[in-house]
Amino acid sequence: MSSAPILETTAGDPERPRHVAIIMDGNGRWAKRHHQPRLFGHKAGVEAVRRVSRAARELGIEALTLYAFSSENWRRPEQEVRDLMGLLRHFIRSDLAELVRENVRLRVIGDYRRFSADVADLVDDAVARTAGNTGSLLAIALNYGSRAEIANAARELARRVRDDGLQPEQIDAPAIEALLETRDLPPLDLLIRTSGEQRLSNFLLWQAAYAELLFVDTLWPDFDAATLREAIAAFGRRQRRFGGL
Ligand code: IPE
Ligand code: IPE
Ligand code: MG
Repeated sequence: MSSAPILETTAGDPERPRHVAIIMDGNGRWAKRHHQPRLFGHKAGVEAVRRVSRAARELGIEALTLYAFSSENWRRPEQEVRDLMGLLRHFIRSDLAELVRENVRLRVIGDYRRFSADVADLVDDAVARTAGNTGSLLAIALNYGSRAEIANAARELARRVRDDGLQPEQIDAPAIEALLETRDLPPLDLLIRTSGEQRLSNFLLWQAAYAELLFVDTLWPDFDAATLREAIAAFGRRQRRFGGL
C-alpha cells in the first residue's frame, strides 16, 4: 500500500516549544474593566507584546508569532482601526532599535500592504533592518487571514500548472505548505488564545493541524512572563502523538 505524503511534523523537544503563536485577545474587555476607552486597552496590549516577546527570547523560544490585526478587523469602527495603525507605527518606531540590538529577526505575515503607505513602508524597513540578524524570530500577523493565505497558495499552484508545467498530481500538502507565509518558520508547536474565547478566528488554520491549543482566561494586557512560563509548562505536560502511538 502506498502511503500518503506525510507533513514534516517533528516531535521536537517535548518540554519546550520551538514556535509559539498567540491570538492576543481581550484588550477591549480589559479597558472596560478599568472603565477606560478601548484604546487604553490596546496601549496596554502593546506593553504586553514587549513583555512577552522579551520573555519568549529569554525562554529560548525560536519563533513567536503574534496575531495583531486580522483581515476581519476592518469591520471595526474606523477610529479604532486608525488607533491600531497609530499604535503599530509607534511600536515600530520605538522598538525597532531593541529588536536590532537583541538580534531578533522580524517577520510579517498577512497583507500589510493594504495598510496606509507610510505604515507599510515602516514595516518593510523594519523587516529589512533585522533581516541580517541570526537570533529568534518575531512574526507579527498584520491584516492576516489564514483562508486567504491558503487561497493564495492555491492560486500560485494553479498558475504553475498553467505556465510552468506543474502536474496536478504533484500538488501535495508539502507543496502547499511551501507557499504559506510561515514557510520559513519552525512548525507551530503551541497556539495560545487569551481572554477565554475558544476559536481560531482565521489564524494559522493549516499550521495548527498538530499544534497544541491552549485557551487561557487571562486578558491579553495582563499576560506576562509568568503566564508564558505557565503556558510552556502546560505544553510540557501534553503528550503529542502526531497520529502515532
Ligand atoms: C485584541 O483585543 C486586539 C485586536 C483584535 C486588535 P480586542 O480588541 O479584540 O479585545 P476584546 O475582544 O474586544 O476584549
Ligand atoms: C482575533 O481577535 C484577532 C486578533 C487577535 C488580532 P478578534 O477579537 O478580532 O476575534 P473575534 O472577532 O472575537 O473572533
Ligand atoms: Mg477580541
